[in-house]
Amino acid sequence: MARSVIDVPDLTKEELDQLMDTAEDIIARPDDYADACRRKKLATLFFEPSTRTRLSFEAAMYELGGNVLSVTGANSSSAAKGESVADTAKTVSCYADIIAMRHPKEGAASVAARNASVPVINAGDGGHCHPTQTLADLLTIRREKGRLGNLTVGLCGDLKFGRTVHSLLNAMSRYEGLRFVLISPEELKVPSYVKSDALKKKGIPYTQTENLEEVIGDLDILYMTRVQRERFFNEEDYLRLRDSYILTPEKMKKARDDLSVMHPLPRVNEISVAVDDDPRACYFKQVLNGKYMRMALILMLLGLKGGTQA
Ligand code: NCD
Repeated sequence: MARSVIDVPDLTKEELDQLMDTAEDIIARPDDYADACRRKKLATLFFEPSTRTRLSFEAAMYELGGNVLSVTGANSSSAAKGESVADTAKTVSCYADIIAMRHPKEGAASVAARNASVPVINAGDGGHCHPTQTLADLLTIRREKGRLGNLTVGLCGDLKFGRTVHSLLNAMSRYEGLRFVLISPEELKVPSYVKSDALKKKGIPYTQTENLEEVIGDLDILYMTRVQRERFFNEEDYLRLRDSYILTPEKMKKARDDLSVMHPLPRVNEISVAVDDDPRACYFKQVLNGKYMRMALILMLLGLKGGTQA
C-alpha cells in the first residue's frame, strides 16, 4: 500500500512544517520546480462539486510539469453503473501515479487508499475531513501571523458538518498556546468526537458561544464557514440556520486591527462582499496558498524533490 493522506494525523507535525517550508520555497523559486513531476500523472476523482480544490490540485500538478487525468461528477464515470470505490481505485492506479479524490461518503477516501497501489489524497469525504484545505489554512496563518502557536482562533458557522473545521482543529491542536472560540448555533456545534480528539484529550482551552459580536474583539483569527446545505436532512432546518452569521464591515469595527479573516470558500452569505476590501480579509490568499501546499504534498508523496532540495 502506498503512503496516502486521508486525514491530518497521517502527517506528523514535522511533516506539516516541512510541507510549509517547501511551499515557501516553491513561492520563492517556482522555476526550480517546473519539471519536478515530469512524466507523472495525477488523477482527480471528484464525485462531489468543487471549484478550488480540484482546480488547485490540477494547477499544482501542471506547475510541477506533470499531467492530469480528471473525472468530475459520479454521473460521468462508472460509479453511475454501480462500480465500487475499491474497484475504481484499483483501476485508476493503472493509469495514474497519484490520486486526489473527493466523495460524498465519509470514509470513501480511506477505502480508496486501501485498494489503490498509488498514493491517495483525500480531497474531502462527506462531513468528515479535508486535510489539504487545512494545509492551505496552516500556510495562510503562518504567513499572516508569522507563527502557528499562541493564537486565539475563532471558528464560526457550521462547525458540525464543516469538514475543514474538523481537520483544522486537529492540525492546530499540535501547536502550543492556542485557545479556540467555537461560534455556532446549538444545532451546528463541533461534533463531540472532534472535540474529544482535538481539544479535550490534549487539554486545549476552548469556549463555545452563539454570539460572534461578543467575542470578535478577542480573536487573532476568525475562520468563517458556509452552512453545509448538502449535509442537511431537511431544507427547513437549512433555511432557518443558513444566515446565522453574516460578517459585515459593521462587525469588523469591533475586531482587532491585526485580525485575519479566513474562509475555505465557497462563500454564500456569511461574509458580506463589502468585507473583501478590508486588509484583514485573507480568504483569497488562502486559495493561492492551497495550490502551493498541494504542490508540496504531491512532491512529498511521490518522493520527489525540487528547488533547493534537489
Ligand atoms: C470546503 C469543502 O469542500 O469542504 N471547500 C473547499 O474545499 N475549499 C468548504 C465548503 O464547501 O464549504
